[in-house]
Amino acid sequence: MRKPIIAGNWKMFKTRDEALFFILKVSEKMPEKEKVDTVVFAQAPLLRCLITRQGEELRIGAQNIFYEDEGAYTGEISGPLLESYNVEYVLIGHSERRQYFHETDEDVNKKIKAAIRNDLLPIVCVGEKLEERENNLTNDVLERQIKNAFKDIPAIEMKDIVIAYEPIWAIGTGKTASAEQADEACGFIRSQIKKLYGPVVSEGIRIQYGGSVKPANIEELISKENIDGALIGGASLDPDQFIEMANAPL
Ligand code: G3H
Repeated sequence: MRKPIIAGNWKMFKTRDEALFFILKVSEKMPEKEKVDTVVFAQAPLLRCLITRQGEELRIGAQNIFYEDEGAYTGEISGPLLESYNVEYVLIGHSERRQYFHETDEDVNKKIKAAIRNDLLPIVCVGEKLEERENNLTNDVLERQIKNAFKDIPAIEMKDIVIAYEPIWAIGTGKTASAEQADEACGFIRSQIKKLYGPVVSEGIRIQYGGSVKPANIEELISKENIDGALIGGASLDPDQFIEMANAPL
């Protein structure tokens, strides 16, 4: 049995006060971490104050990491810094990073290696554009993204990695992939992991779905065989909705 993982990606939302209000409201209402992993990905300057107030169950994650550990890279965030703040998770390869900041599959691969080097748990995002789905290229895109993301990553490291399937056409659009479409794509991703690492790794790895997840649809999505949780954008900003979704797997 794979433990469900419910994560909120706040993207570039929330001031310090708003973030603290959220944490105060949700931290006592998160499911036990033995049963469900819960994570919130916040903007970097919020990480320190959230980590000191996160409570027992909720984990805090960074939305980005640079692939070098230090150097003259103005504006970037290093793995050693995140680790020194006890940040546990890091989001890698989100489609918004790929689209607006031109991150390539190779960058994603290097960032996963940086996360591993610094004891951070990566959630690696993959997913196709609308025109790719319409041209039946979904599996080709996922195969390429998976193969390149995990190039030279040893099997032993894969137990701590989570993959998020996020079809770009479903992000922030209110247009959710159907539970069947999401399960099929997550199953395809699992088959690619099996091809690269064998059945033990592929059965153990957790794969989330992301794209317009909300309290009304989360239960159906996570009830599917290949979907082990959700990466939630918009709906994770609201503490009450996040509490409901975090407890959905119970
Ligand atoms: O990281 C989260 C995803 O981009 C989904 O965002 O729930 O607002 O569609 P959304």
